[in-house]
Amino acid sequence: MSGGADGGIVIGRVGDIADGTGKRFDRSVVGRDPIAVFNDGGAFYAIDDTCPHEVTSLADGWVEDGTVECPLHAAKFCLKDGAVLALPATRGVATHRVEVVGDELVLHPGEAADLGSCR
Ligand code: FES
Repeated sequence: MSGGADGGIVIGRVGDIADGTGKRFDRSVVGRDPIAVFNDGGAFYAIDDTCPHEVTSLADGWVEDGTVECPLHAAKFCLKDGAVLALPATRGVATHRVEVVGDELVLHPGEAADLGSCR
């Protein structure tokens, strides 16, 4: 992992995260609470990794149609804006901008993504 040209963090290559999966990046990489990065049909999204219902990694969740379903109790979150779409979670999670630069994934922790919403 290394610093990107404009302050982002190079977290790996596009091929490191398979379509339909997520990957967790811990504090040692992102310098803050863990962030999960997802590949949904070739589009990459980054949100806070910890489910706000209980402490579970959303990176292990089910990815489908721009959403991720928590692996523990099935709360669902929009990957575009982090909004909660299904109980039992009652609040959403923060988003982070992630971009593809050449073959690399560059993450901007704490910089909200501006991708619209799932509704
Ligand atoms: S821990 Fe995620 S829905 Fe319960």
